[in-house]
Amino acid sequence: MCSDVYTVYRVVSRRQESEGGASLVLDGSLRADPGQFVMVWLPGIEERPLAVMNDRPLSLTIRDVGPFTHAMCRLQEGDRVWVRGPYGHGFDVRSRRMLLVGGGSGIASLTLLASRSLDEGREVRVALGARTSSQLMLGWRFDELGIPVLYATDDGTVGARGTTVDAIEPLLRAGWPDAVYACGPEPMMIALGRRLRGTDLPLYLSFERTMKCGFGVCGNCHLGDQLVCRDGPVFEGEKVLRVLDPLAE
Ligand SMILES: Cc1cc2nc3c(=O)[nH]c(=O)nc-3n(C[C@H](O)[C@H](O)[C@H](O)COP(=O)(O)OP(=O)(O)OC[C@H]3O[C@@H](n4cnc5c(N)ncnc54)[C@H](O)[C@@H]3O)c2cc1C
Ligand code: FES
Repeated sequence: MCSDVYTVYRVVSRRQESEGGASLVLDGSLRADPGQFVMVWLPGIEERPLAVMNDRPLSLTIRDVGPFTHAMCRLQEGDRVWVRGPYGHGFDVRSRRMLLVGGGSGIASLTLLASRSLDEGREVRVALGARTSSQLMLGWRFDELGIPVLYATDDGTVGARGTTVDAIEPLLRAGWPDAVYACGPEPMMIALGRRLRGTDLPLYLSFERTMKCGFGVCGNCHLGDQLVCRDGPVFEGEKVLRVLDPLAE
């Protein structure tokens, strides 16, 4: 259930993720659907949306890109965070063989989807991408779940040299997935949409647009005529790429 009232959590453990990233386990749980997000407030700094990386216990993974995420990455055991939510519509899961594609901080939106789907008896494979190996996040979590991971880095320091869209090509050619689920930089999601255009594979995309209120009031997060916080963050690929991709029909 969504709560607009803040709950105060304490950090129980912290894991260094990559050269500018961390995962935090908090001292409580929260019931969330895969793909939903919470608004996290650090008094005196900022409030920002973060994906529910795990809901029992509530866990977050943060990529250090600015003042709020920097402060989150420096939290230590016992420090407090204020959390409201969860918010938004998560992933629509109907397929049996699921291919998850993640880049940057977007990878955090896919871990709960992976674990829940495995619990439901679905097959899951993952492709993770970053500019270079030291920026890859959360590979350990998919390893823990026993999910095969394809890595792609721009400089070839881990996995295939190139993008996640290149890395999944063999699985697409083999006709492996029934559906594709992605979260990452918008150019990655546009490239994925272009690759899948003309196939009948359902594509679900989760967006990380700048947010203020988190529940459809301020208009900060619009994507065409949709609000990412209220109508998303997960959208059917075809619908949203009509707005985003200049090459889409
Ligand atoms: C639904 C949703 C879920 C999200 N989940 C996560 C998550 O689990 N983990 C996480 O780390 N972030 C996540 N984000 C993004 C996160 O909210 C932003 O990174 C955050 O707003 C940055 O705040 P800041 O004050 O640190 O930096 P800001 O001052 O807001 O931004 C600093 C710079 O970083 C750029 N920037 C902002 N967001 C990103 C980004 N995602 N990737 C790269 N550059 C960016 C900005 O354009 C700006 O140039 C999510 C966003 C949404 C909408
Ligand atoms: S963040 Fe305010 S409307 Fe979406």
